[in-house]
Amino acid sequence: MIRTRIRSIAHYVPEQVVTNNDLTKYMDTSDEWIRERTGIEERRYAHKHEETTTSMAARASEIAIERAGITKEDIDFIIFATLSPDYYFPGCGVLLQRELGITQTEIGALDIRNQCSGFVYGLSVADKFIKTGTYKNILLVGSEKHSMGLDFRTEGRGVTVIFGDGAGACVLQPTEEEGRGVLSTHLHSDGTHAEELAMINPGSHGGYHNADVDYGYPDPQVPGEIFVTPKMMKDYMLAPNMTGQLVFKTAVTKFPEVIQEGLNETGLNSTDIDLLIPHQANLRISAFVQKRLGLRDDQVFNNIQKYGNTTAASIPIAMSEAFEQGKIKDGDLICLAAFGSGFTWGSVLLRW
Ligand code: UT7
Repeated sequence: MIRTRIRSIAHYVPEQVVTNNDLTKYMDTSDEWIRERTGIEERRYAHKHEETTTSMAARASEIAIERAGITKEDIDFIIFATLSPDYYFPGCGVLLQRELGITQTEIGALDIRNQCSGFVYGLSVADKFIKTGTYKNILLVGSEKHSMGLDFRTEGRGVTVIFGDGAGACVLQPTEEEGRGVLSTHLHSDGTHAEELAMINPGSHGGYHNADVDYGYPDPQVPGEIFVTPKMMKDYMLAPNMTGQLVFKTAVTKFPEVIQEGLNETGLNSTDIDLLIPHQANLRISAFVQKRLGLRDDQVFNNIQKYGNTTAASIPIAMSEAFEQGKIKDGDLICLAAFGSGFTWGSVLLRW
């Protein structure tokens, strides 16, 4: 039976460390508040002009490809998950192909727009391609450059202090080794609360979903309505917004649910999990999930303290660090789980 194996994993984070105290220069916040409510101590910000979501992804990918013992030319498909793409379009998949110098044009590049769940969604899609024998070396990447699109005024503090930049990449291959590889994937979504964790502008919505909000659009009778209006810029409407408590409450329910779904399907118990790598949304969310599943501290990996929430990049960055620290060994049962904007959520159970 063919299963999907994570052949290699790697990450790249930008050099610039931004502490909680650094943020107090821009907004009314404190190291104490951020640590207590989120567990975050510091995060990384990419260089404004010399690093992009794609370039960080390329650095992580180069290491992953080398660790897999293959060459760039062996990659036969790219899957790129991000919510902070370099361009409105085209997506980062093709930009990564170019940045890596992968010139063979028979390969494809797919962009995943599932925010915090992007890596889990991407892994699930890759799994289907590999199991069916379509591809043999898929490069799956999660990368984010949040620092370009945050509101650094006090009004934006509820969102801005959480996010950080970085990238994680892995090479996925087929394996026929008994019991090894991806055992289950489960994906879910519920668009009811789409705007509760969202960056609405720039977009083509033209106010459709929020008739009561004045975005400053010009006369609708005149063709060529614009994505970005002067009002959006003046009123700081070009940044993410989040109803934190709703997201928190839903997350602590959905994480354990979707992990349990995987365990039920595979006939395993939470005690069988060697390492749970949850999306790094908030240390308190991870603690809730850990408690609900009855896991010991050594069964859960967190690194939000150092990097903040890096959305689609958080799971591969955490998995890469856990691997480098010797916390993932051959034969270990690894559980990945994510919840975020959409809302979307999902889990993957795999035997390393
Ligand atoms: O990865 C995607 C998924 N995202 C998540 O899972 C995030 C889920 N939500 C959360 O993690 C939490 O809701 C937050 C960390 C975002 C916020 O924590 P909270 O305990 O829910 O705080 P809150 O939004 O209820 O705000 C409490 C107070 C408010 O002040 P008042 O109204 O009580 O006077 C906020 O204005 O804290 C204030 N506040 C801040 N104070 C200092 C909000 N942000 C900050 C801040 N610094 N950065």
